Amino acid sequence: MCGIFGCILKEGNAAPLIHSSLKRLEYRGYDSVGIATISDGKIFMKKDSGKIDEVHKLVNLDDMPGNIGIGHTRWATHGAPLKINSHPHMDCKGEIVVVHNGIIENFMELRAELQNLGHIFVSKTDTEVMPHLIEETLKQNPKLTFVNAVLESLKRIEGSYAFAIMSTREPDKIICARNESPLVLGVNGTGVFCASDIPAFLPITNKAVMINNGEIVILSQQGYEIHKIQDYSTVTRDPVTIEWTSEMAVKQGYPHFMIKEIHEQPEVLRNTLRMQDHYLDLMTTFLDRADEVYLVACGTSYHACLAASYMFSKLAFLPTYPVYASEFVEQHGKSVNIESTLLAVSQSGETADTLSAVMCAQQRAATVLGLTNVIGSTLTRVSRVYIGTQAGPEIGVAATKTFTSQLSVLAQLALRLSKKRGKISQDEMDCLEVNLKKMPEDVEIIIRTQEEKVKQIAHKYKDSKVFFFLGRGISTATAFEGRLKLMEIAYIPSIAFPAGESKHGPISLIEEGFPVVFVCPRDDCHKTLIGNIMEMKARGAHIIAVIEEGDDDIKSLAEEYIEVPKGIPSVLSPIPFSVPLQMLAYYISLEKGNNPDMPRNLAKSVTVK
Ligand code: F6R
Repeated sequence: MCGIFGCILKEGNAAPLIHSSLKRLEYRGYDSVGIATISDGKIFMKKDSGKIDEVHKLVNLDDMPGNIGIGHTRWATHGAPLKINSHPHMDCKGEIVVVHNGIIENFMELRAELQNLGHIFVSKTDTEVMPHLIEETLKQNPKLTFVNAVLESLKRIEGSYAFAIMSTREPDKIICARNESPLVLGVNGTGVFCASDIPAFLPITNKAVMINNGEIVILSQQGYEIHKIQDYSTVTRDPVTIEWTSEMAVKQGYPHFMIKEIHEQPEVLRNTLRMQDHYLDLMTTFLDRADEVYLVACGTSYHACLAASYMFSKLAFLPTYPVYASEFVEQHGKSVNIESTLLAVSQSGETADTLSAVMCAQQRAATVLGLTNVIGSTLTRVSRVYIGTQAGPEIGVAATKTFTSQLSVLAQLALRLSKKRGKISQDEMDCLEVNLKKMPEDVEIIIRTQEEKVKQIAHKYKDSKVFFFLGRGISTATAFEGRLKLMEIAYIPSIAFPAGESKHGPISLIEEGFPVVFVCPRDDCHKTLIGNIMEMKARGAHIIAVIEEGDDDIKSLAEEYIEVPKGIPSVLSPIPFSVPLQMLAYYISLEKGNNPDMPRNLAKSVTVK
């Protein structure tokens, strides 16, 4: 997730406006910033790593000539957050500049092809293939217009993108294109604007034109033209008036970041499936060499590790030990050694407990692998190999989209390892791959069809003094996560444990009306779980079950049920089954009058032990 912005002004310099507009997109990423303008047929560019204010102090982003320009604020995915990887990116001759939000899936092939043709790449980004591809297209077809060269190049790009592109060949135009990454235009009497999101231009204009997937846009002093990439047919679309305040616009009309981020999960899951093979393969090679692996994390990230321990065991027969990072040194500090492998999972990559577990393991010569959402964080610097979870910045304190993105990457690793070790049948492998691919759609369906129902359940149970969250097998992890979400934002004391443990103590708490949330995928644990539900019900508990669509056995026992699509394999179930629990926590928190984005006593990044 990055922010792009471009503008053509009727009068005045574009750079100060691009700068202030990028500031309003900083919530989309802040690893680096860059601006390019064109004046007198020449490209001017300033860029560097760091937050916008830091870079501005060093280079004065406002001091650039030209009434046309593009800019970018980056959330690193491919390539560390360094100056060379900052956007805009250029072709060899310095005639074409590109800013991009998205992931070009086939960039390795394109890069190799272009390098063989003599193109020199200076960055490690996927984006840099685009200016070179356009340059090459023009070289091979000198008669093409710049727009047509962009069009031809787009046809070779696989993956997601929102591009804004300028060239000295046609210095009065910005060409934009969209596939799966957001892009919107702004218009008024002073000029035309393109951006990743409405807040970028909202103080300038509230007239916006939404751009759809598969569309290319030409911005000029005359306004905007929209065409379909496929056949260049013209699309007519008038501006709409946006009634949002700036604050609402940053949240895209959602009242809180948390619910916005819950709704972003289908898009984020799609991005996690675009991970470059070589990152996954490299990590898989290290996991394959390990006899056993410590999965180390805190809070929600720990729950992803707990789920992953079932995935690695069931799919790849790899023993893994999920460990609370804050306990790692005490529990394993003396036994961890050169033969050990530690996979640290951390959204922020800065959690002090996780980093001290990593340091301890490193001092004893263990191999450290990292999974984090923040490329450039301490965890990426201290890991032998790391993977970025591609979720984009998460602003709500309660982790939601970063949790499901961690699960998706961990599932992909377990699948790769399984394939490498030949541990499961081809049919099973195919089924898991198909289900992983359709996970974004499944999550979309859950949000679309179940949100209203979750709201009603939240209203009904808002005054409950305590909740249980139960599951068996991998759903234990989902139950733990559901409990953490409810506690941290709704402030309701909650207890989670594997459902089989009920009769060893906790069931004595149950009395009439006690809400018990059961996580019930139709897996090998389903029958036994029904037994656990009956035990609770017999003592007066109110059952709130998250079930597979059409699971009549559990429907008949539950006071309330929330349905997820059918046929999701057990090892992948924490992804969809955790989504209703995130929504439940969110809506109970609202019912209680809390601010779910800023729960009391908590911080997004916990850098103290
Ligand atoms: C809960 C939550 C926290 C974090 C924990 C670890 O919603 O966000 O429990 O998961 O503080 O943080 P990271 O993943 O940044 O290491």
